[in-house]
Amino acid sequence: MKKSIDSMFNGDYYIVININTTELIKTLICREDFMRSAKIILNKDYLVGEVDKRIYGSFIEHLGRAVYGGIYEPSHPTADKFGFRQDVKEMIKELKMPIVRYPGGNFVSGYNWEDGVGAVDKRPRRTELAWMTTETNEIGTNEFCQWAKEVGTEVMMAVNLGTRGADAARNLVEYCNHPGDTYWSNLRKSHGYIQPHNIKTWCLGNELDGPWQICHKTAQEYGRLACETAKVMKWVDPTIELVACGSSGSGMATFAQWEATVLEHTYEHVDYISLHTYYGNHDNNTSNFLARSMDMDAFIKSVVSTCDYVKAKKHSKKKINLSFDEWNVWFHSNNADKKIDRWSIAPHQLEDEYTFEDALLVGSMLITLLKNADRVKMACLAQLVNVIAPIMTENGGSAWKQTIFYPYLHTSIYGRGTVLNPIVKSPMYDSKDFTDVPCIDATAVISEDNNEITLFAVNRDMENNITLDIELNGFGKFEVVEHIVMESSDVKASNTKQNPNNVVPNSNGNAAIEDGNVKATVKNLSWNVIRLGRVK
Ligand code: AHR
Repeated sequence: MKKSIDSMFNGDYYIVININTTELIKTLICREDFMRSAKIILNKDYLVGEVDKRIYGSFIEHLGRAVYGGIYEPSHPTADKFGFRQDVKEMIKELKMPIVRYPGGNFVSGYNWEDGVGAVDKRPRRTELAWMTTETNEIGTNEFCQWAKEVGTEVMMAVNLGTRGADAARNLVEYCNHPGDTYWSNLRKSHGYIQPHNIKTWCLGNELDGPWQICHKTAQEYGRLACETAKVMKWVDPTIELVACGSSGSGMATFAQWEATVLEHTYEHVDYISLHTYYGNHDNNTSNFLARSMDMDAFIKSVVSTCDYVKAKKHSKKKINLSFDEWNVWFHSNNADKKIDRWSIAPHQLEDEYTFEDALLVGSMLITLLKNADRVKMACLAQLVNVIAPIMTENGGSAWKQTIFYPYLHTSIYGRGTVLNPIVKSPMYDSKDFTDVPCIDATAVISEDNNEITLFAVNRDMENNITLDIELNGFGKFEVVEHIVMESSDVKASNTKQNPNNVVPNSNGNAAIEDGNVKATVKNLSWNVIRLGRVK
């Protein structure tokens, strides 16, 4: 339990002996002018590792209005010649999203990729058993790769290891990546795509540990299938990288044993193992909700340990890294989704309207990914448009940015280079599920050219502003370029079609250099991006 006498004297609470009264009265006060404070020490030699830009990936699944009405709406006033919404494309380009996972998700476990190629008017309509909707197959592999190229991103393609297996997977690799003069590559060419798509990153199925999955498997069953599929996929194209399915969440009963078994089967044939997590604030407990990134951190560390255990057991020299290819807040739409009609086409599904507090947790989750950049090499904010997404659209109408868009944008733009390993001395709190939660959750990144340092910080304190004293050791002289702040007096405030700019960041933070250190006030419940530039 925090708030021991020690921590009370640690800059925030004071016990005053009131000598104006006859009795000695202990009064506990929290004084504004003795604001809470935190110390951050950055040293040029304290490093976590290089940021793999693919940690700023996202995800588009054939689900709800992610594809149809999200990225693709041929009748929309901004649609390009392929039917893609240009208003949405512009927002995505702002994010500089380096990779996008496709086509699922649960969807992929029942997907016949052949349904989505060739003449559009000949493509079958299918009952889609993951989400109980109708899939029209208007958009498939080629159109999606075309769209990805236009928004300047790479595709992370998932293959179906639910209803299908090695044969369909190796054929898809040949269809996408083989230059020509074979059956599948010639078929691609006959569909109008002469150049191969050259997809480098492939997921070996999705969440096969989950009983909800189409053709759920045991770890043994999946491990064997993933191993044999990996072999033939890499035989077709040895340049590809493969992600094996880890658990669909650390709360799964099979968690850790699943990873260990799967890796025992696949270790030498795959490059990454996946992690998925979603958090909610079902009991409306903000301070507890904001601490959930600590659970994400523990999850990452457990998966790293499991990978390294299998490495040791196998006496292998190879290191398996992590692909956190689904993560976000997801709970707002749970009830609404129970009312969706079966077999509808592109319904409003998983359309969470994100609040300000959701953006704070998303900020902390991004900070967590950065803190683990030595092992997390890819990550996908799930998802990108309409479905638990930073971008929302109205069919035939406008597109707007949800609150969570902004921490994702800031980290993707300013969080590239090498992650520093700051020493953070912060006040702490306990919550329902967590103890010793630092009020200040922070990390920092130094750019490749060493000329910019960006500090990302969430102040989780519900009531108190906190003064940051940031010491810069060994970097040379830096000045404050900008202190971006996202704050709101209402944790439940959101951006909507009617009010799209209700919660947006500003550059009104007060970070400044004082005696060689950076001093800044970070408001209670705020997201902060402090950008420093080298003085030339
Ligand atoms: O992103 C929504 C769903 O969450 C995905 O389809 C599935 O993989 C996960 O359970």
